[in-house]
Amino acid sequence: MAPTMSKAREAGRPSLRDTLIPASPSRRWRVSLFCIATLVLLYNMLFSRTIASLATTLSLTFALPTPSEGDVHNAELPWQTSGSDNSAGNWFYEFQNALASMQDTSFWSGYDWDSIQWISAFLNTLLGATDRSLTEILVEYDGNIPGSYISGPTIDGEISRYYSQMKAFYGSEDTVQIFDAAYDDAQWVVLEWIEAIKFVNEYEEYNSGSRSQDDIRRFAHRAHVFYNIVQNEFDTSLCGGGITWNPALEPYKNAITNQLFMASSIEMYLHFPGDYNTDPYPSANYSSETNTTLPPLTFMQPHDPLFLDNAIEEYEWFKTQNFTNEQGLIVDGFHISDGQTSCDKRNEMVYSYNQGVILSGLRGLWEATGDPSYLSDGYDLIDTVINATGWNAQNAEEASQWAGLGRNGIMEDYCDAPANCSQDAQIFKGIYFHHLGIFCEPLPTTTPLVDGLTVLADGDLADAHSSNCDSHTSWVTHNAHAALSTRNQDNVIGGWWGANHSNDTTQSATLDMAVPIPQGSWDERNSPEVLSQAPWACRNGCRQAGQFSSGANAQPRTELTIRSQKRDVNGGGRGRTVETQGSGVSVVKAASDFTRKRPAR
Ligand SMILES: *[C@@H]1O[C@H](CO)[C@@H](O)[C@H](O)[C@H]1NC(C)=O
Ligand SMILES: *[C@@H]1O[C@H](CO)[C@@H](O)[C@H](O)[C@H]1NC(C)=O
Ligand SMILES: *[C@@H]1O[C@H](CO)[C@@H](O)[C@H](O)[C@H]1NC(C)=O
Ligand SMILES: *[C@@H]1O[C@H](CO)[C@@H](O)[C@H](O)[C@H]1NC(C)=O
Ligand SMILES: *[C@@H]1O[C@H](CO)[C@@H](O)[C@H](O)[C@H]1NC(C)=O
Ligand SMILES: *[C@@H]1O[C@H](CO)[C@@H](O)[C@H](O)[C@H]1NC(C)=O
Ligand SMILES: *[C@@H]1O[C@H](CO)[C@@H](O)[C@H](O)[C@H]1NC(C)=O
Repeated sequence: MAPTMSKAREAGRPSLRDTLIPASPSRRWRVSLFCIATLVLLYNMLFSRTIASLATTLSLTFALPTPSEGDVHNAELPWQTSGSDNSAGNWFYEFQNALASMQDTSFWSGYDWDSIQWISAFLNTLLGATDRSLTEILVEYDGNIPGSYISGPTIDGEISRYYSQMKAFYGSEDTVQIFDAAYDDAQWVVLEWIEAIKFVNEYEEYNSGSRSQDDIRRFAHRAHVFYNIVQNEFDTSLCGGGITWNPALEPYKNAITNQLFMASSIEMYLHFPGDYNTDPYPSANYSSETNTTLPPLTFMQPHDPLFLDNAIEEYEWFKTQNFTNEQGLIVDGFHISDGQTSCDKRNEMVYSYNQGVILSGLRGLWEATGDPSYLSDGYDLIDTVINATGWNAQNAEEASQWAGLGRNGIMEDYCDAPANCSQDAQIFKGIYFHHLGIFCEPLPTTTPLVDGLTVLADGDLADAHSSNCDSHTSWVTHNAHAALSTRNQDNVIGGWWGANHSNDTTQSATLDMAVPIPQGSWDERNSPEVLSQAPWACRNGCRQAGQFSSGANAQPRTELTIRSQKRDVNGGGRGRTVETQGSGVSVVKAASDFTRKRPAR
């Protein structure tokens, strides 16, 4: 147990529930001060909007922000500049500011985001990860990041505010719809509620609390219901293994579904507390809405070996399947030609999120097994991805050329410059940075993450991990700066982070910067109409999407039909949406986490 933690305990930190009631008198003055500061800030954001003026406001109000030690290097190369203030305090401020723009606007209303279900599940995961970061700040700094004006009691308030929003979303999540969607969709829900469980456990450990156990039970049950959809779907009859994307389409074994299976299986293994509730329905309305009866769920113990076996088997298969292109980037997936059983037809399309989810899976596999090769595979992939943004170019001209996943050191998806990303693709870069962040959490050296189950790192490995991840800090802050430089007058971050480098602050389509997609690829995530054609469309009596859906009304629900069921906020073009803001929040959060030195526990 870290000394700071016991100190915090003595100080009698409130429980999650306590933080929802008004602050005690001893804290009131500090809270009021913060409220005044917030009002000044809001005023400033509304009427002047520049960071410079915000900084002026802050220093007038508090005279606090000073650059902290441990700043990352200030690269001299023009495509590697990452702004003047890379202090942890400044990035924490930017993170809070970006998050407030996502949560305090019409993007979040009626206990839901203005998005589609799987993306909302990811945004809720991001809130859980945010509350974990805030908890770490309480543990490590007693809430006072050097150079930041935000203090402990305020952070407690933030934590409970975002936690209330997560719980509100628990109630409004459209579980019926996402239950019958594709196999990737279900797993975003698993990761979402496991992240919430991780947060509650970490907060209550810090706090010596145990008053949110009912919440944990509910979260665990939802994770169980959704993991059950994929639990037995690893199928060796085609391609030697893997899970297909969408049972309503021809078999397509894609990177995301299988990376998610690694990640959701290992997260379940490590953090699922067990669930003895056998109610199989995602919602009380499911039966009446779908006319479907489901068999009861099977009991799942905490740390059931099935979860670990699934994760290991999945990654073994993933490696043998060669999902990487010549550059080492992970391609989207494989079709199976008529009359074949092997994955013989590769889709060369490269998306940013396919480079990300695997990282948290690898991290979890190390935690469970102690095998360092999982971490090495992660380091290699991160290096490949950073290089594919042009970060290591020799000169400005070379840096400005497309390098596989961006240019000028900034991550881009193919759809970014021509401004024709789908709603799905607008969140991809945010997913990348979230999973990079999980991978780069310090390795435990003194306290196992899960008693008796997870391994400890020796000092050398923990140091090597930290220095490997720290070496990427300037790339992360460079990307966060790029994202912030796309903000419009309403403080909303745009989708194409590289826009500023072509002086396109409007984020309108810049066709002369568009890059053709790789040879031999289908861009199905941005052109969903291809799903109604070969080789995607179901010709041979594919199974219904959703394990048990049946009945005349149960049309196969492809992602295509799901999208049309809810208003697409992106309309005809890309625009700025909760998805572009969410990706921005994720990269700025990563900048905050990377610049804050996090000691091994
Ligand atoms: C269930 O259906 C009722 C009536 O249609 C509706 O009012 C309620 O919000 C639904 N509940 C859920 C959890 O979907
Ligand atoms: C469920 O089945 C009943 C009887 O077959 C039918 O009348 C009803 O319309 C169905 N409901 C839905 C939502 O399909
Ligand atoms: C995987 O495929 C790529 C692209 O065809 C190829 O360059 C690479 O050598 C392959 N890797 C392995 C391990 O076979
Ligand atoms: C880095 O990216 C460049 C393209 O920008 C490529 O030519 C080079 O081979 C890559 N190097 C590594 C180590 O991946
Ligand atoms: C990008 O935007 C910032 C302001 O947000 C500006 O200072 C900078 O010069 C712009 N250009 C580049 C290439 O970063
Ligand atoms: C953007 O504008 C700046 C200043 O006007 C100029 O120096 C730079 O070359 C421009 N960059 C591009 C890519 O057009
Ligand atoms: C996006 O626009 C570019 C440039 O016009 C085009 O090459 C690409 O096919 C478009 N992609 C989609 C998904 O429409």
